[in-house]
Amino acid sequence: MCGIVGYVGKKQAAPILLDGLSRLEYRGYDSAGMAVYDGEKIVINKTTGRLKVLSELTHDGATMSGHIGIGHTRWATHGEPSDVNAHPHFNKDQSIAVVQNGIIENYLKLRNLLQDRGYQFLSETDTEVVVHLLDYYYNRYDKNPLTAVTKVIHRVEGSYALGILFADHPDVMYAVRKDAPLIVGIGEEGNLIASDVPAVLKYTRDVFFIENEEIAVLTEKSIEFFNMDADPIRKESKHIDWDINAAEKGGYEHFMLKEIYEQPKAVRDTISPRIRDHSIVIEELGMTDEEIRAVKKIHIAACGSAYHTGVTSKYVFEGLARIPVEVDLASEFRYRDPILEEGALVIVISQSGETADSLAALRLAKDRGITTLGIVNVVGSSIAREADKVMYTWAGPEIAVATTKAYSCQLVAQYLLALKFAQVRGQITDEQLGEYLHEMEILPNQIESLIDNKHKIQKFANRYVAAKDVFFIGRGIDYAISLEGSLKLKEISYIHSEAYAAGELKHGTISLIEDGTLVAAVVTQEELYKKTISNIVEVRSRGAYVLAVTNEDNIEIEKTADCVIYIPKTSSYFTNSLAIIPLQIFGYYVSVGKGLDVDKPRNLAKSVTVE
Ligand code: G6P
Repeated sequence: MCGIVGYVGKKQAAPILLDGLSRLEYRGYDSAGMAVYDGEKIVINKTTGRLKVLSELTHDGATMSGHIGIGHTRWATHGEPSDVNAHPHFNKDQSIAVVQNGIIENYLKLRNLLQDRGYQFLSETDTEVVVHLLDYYYNRYDKNPLTAVTKVIHRVEGSYALGILFADHPDVMYAVRKDAPLIVGIGEEGNLIASDVPAVLKYTRDVFFIENEEIAVLTEKSIEFFNMDADPIRKESKHIDWDINAAEKGGYEHFMLKEIYEQPKAVRDTISPRIRDHSIVIEELGMTDEEIRAVKKIHIAACGSAYHTGVTSKYVFEGLARIPVEVDLASEFRYRDPILEEGALVIVISQSGETADSLAALRLAKDRGITTLGIVNVVGSSIAREADKVMYTWAGPEIAVATTKAYSCQLVAQYLLALKFAQVRGQITDEQLGEYLHEMEILPNQIESLIDNKHKIQKFANRYVAAKDVFFIGRGIDYAISLEGSLKLKEISYIHSEAYAAGELKHGTISLIEDGTLVAAVVTQEELYKKTISNIVEVRSRGAYVLAVTNEDNIEIEKTADCVIYIPKTSSYFTNSLAIIPLQIFGYYVSVGKGLDVDKPRNLAKSVTVE
């Protein structure tokens, strides 16, 4: 994963690099470093720890003078987090510096070859082979940096985004990528490279998206692009209209809380432009009614929380549109040789649009000639670009590692899609569609009321900061909600939690229930109330303390559960959008109560661009 940034221009580079890296810390934060050309030589400072350690080390960049530089924030893959493994990496005479995001898959072979030629390695990283390989080709081919870069990309396998400085060419920065994100920012007082748009927004809104195996060559005043054979290519820039404040904390203690509060707006932004004159119009999708009618089966592939929205979607699509749906974790889908027959539609859901397994699932489906549809938040991301069809979630940039608003937008995007399919395929009447759309339109206000009434669940969370195990149970869509509720808790509070289909309790989990164990029961599917309530009775009689999340009309549950959180009335297909809110808030406040780093939980990263 990792984040890279680079600047060449009139200003001092180091403070700009630090600022850019601070907006990329969500990509990794176990070590950080910068390389700046100081007028005579390239100087590197790098260190284990968060970015603030690097800021302190360099006095906010003041100790590194120079107008060109590259920076890196790391999420370790090859080699533990350490000063020596931190990027940038140097060649032997310190005339070439490299930062990398990705994985060089054939690095061992290349390392052996380079060692045979006398190169000495200081770190355990795969990146170091890149810098030595650059050195090798640079010296072999008339010290031509562009030739050296093209030779390297012909030799390395895997996914990578690289920022490169050559001390012999101190006004020029080189960048290249394959299957890892990289953009070029067109600044007024210099040009930039970065792994993601927020890193450059302070300086420019005009960017180029670098495609696979394209090379960018930047100076203060020029940006040129070349293909891997060093032929010049022309590219169109894109204008970004996000607000920079959207990528900042805006007064909230944590990004996660800010993003929880942003959910009503994000969900509204995802729904309302698509509802016109009582029908659904998804402009960018470009799927004709004929194409929608021709779909025989849907396969959903995604990771993490995006996968959980897919689990919900199975119930929604099958229930509303009567199309069979298979849901897979993308990491399983890509290796299980799935049976994809004519008429299949593969939907890949991803906030970042860069998750390695999700991208691989998409490519597998495309290779088999199956139509692919990406439900993506980041415009211009790999999945958005490569999918045959795309539907955007308009959540805006999401920074906290634990997703909230992007998850909520993925859910409603899929409700819209399922309703569209149901209508086109004649499975629901216009009148039913009108009712569903009305319920969707009031979801943002209902979400808002749940957030405004967070105090009960906040207090409840404070009592559970010392919990050891928590179980989440539910049936049908309530099971899908439980999966996400459990993940939200465990990923940021480090409390062991598990989600179980309530009917499975008796096949194992119930033996783990002890006096005082917290069981969160999700009970929003009316036809399944009685079944889940008997499971609540079973766990309570074994000592469990039960928190129930249920519909506002299910007051009967107070006789069985110890604490009840009610959600407003909505269609049974849409309850996930409401029931998840108190569970997100629960996870958030348990983490806050434990004094943990809510936005950057240990060992996790926002965007998992490696396998
Ligand atoms: C990471 C994030 C999750 C996210 C998952 C999939 O694990 O922490 O919040 O659900 O990746 O990411 P994607 O960008 O593909 O939705």
